[in-house]
Amino acid sequence: MKWMIVEKGEELAQVAYQFLKQEIERHPEGLTVGLATGSSPVGVYEEWRKDSLDCRHVTTVNLDEYVGLSPEHPQSYHTFMQEHLFKDVAFKESFVPIGDTEDSVRESERYEALVRNRGIDIQLLGIGANGHIAFNEPGTPFDAKTHVTELTESTREANQRFFDRLEEVPTKAITMGIGTIMEAKKILLVASSERKAEAVRDMMEGVATTDCPATVLKRHADVMVILDEEAASLLS
Ligand code: F6R
Repeated sequence: MKWMIVEKGEELAQVAYQFLKQEIERHPEGLTVGLATGSSPVGVYEEWRKDSLDCRHVTTVNLDEYVGLSPEHPQSYHTFMQEHLFKDVAFKESFVPIGDTEDSVRESERYEALVRNRGIDIQLLGIGANGHIAFNEPGTPFDAKTHVTELTESTREANQRFFDRLEEVPTKAITMGIGTIMEAKKILLVASSERKAEAVRDMMEGVATTDCPATVLKRHADVMVILDEEAASLLS
């Protein structure tokens, strides 16, 4: 695991975007980039939107989507991606799991096959305060494929800020599994703020355990972690 500490979130976004850009430029023949939602990648997407990088050879696959929310729902991850990136950057094709299908288990299987067929060249990740990656909550097996997951109360509370009330935060999500993520050739994880400091310490200094899903990344051969000073504040 390689890592880098920058002073603030702004710099983190610039460095992380340059890392992704390099990867995109290195593959003019085409590549698949795994994307995340939430606060962590917002600055990265802002840098991306400001740049005029040609991404017409890039396929994107998102990590997750809330079960029950249609792509048009204002809090869906489809809408998030549209607003933060897709409206300004043209990609070859972009995929996000569909949250409002009749059969979410089937949708998870379809999405797993779609991701596997393409193969992720680089995956952008955030980390939850409880150590989750995508929506793989503590206790998820390291070999999990894309699946429907029950969100923990702490995750629902953390994500409440995007909704009007806690009751509106969905209780389930479709998420790429830890096993799916670990198949990515390269992983770039970004974390900022003190809220992430404990999870970051566990990920980087603790043993690999399903209690903190991000610790699985120790077993991946090519991971870059970019932290701001607050997120790195508990590292020894
Ligand atoms: C989002 C995702 C989550 C977030 C994590 C951190 O697609 O998969 O794992 O990366 O919950 O969220 P923020 O960045 O909002 O703190």
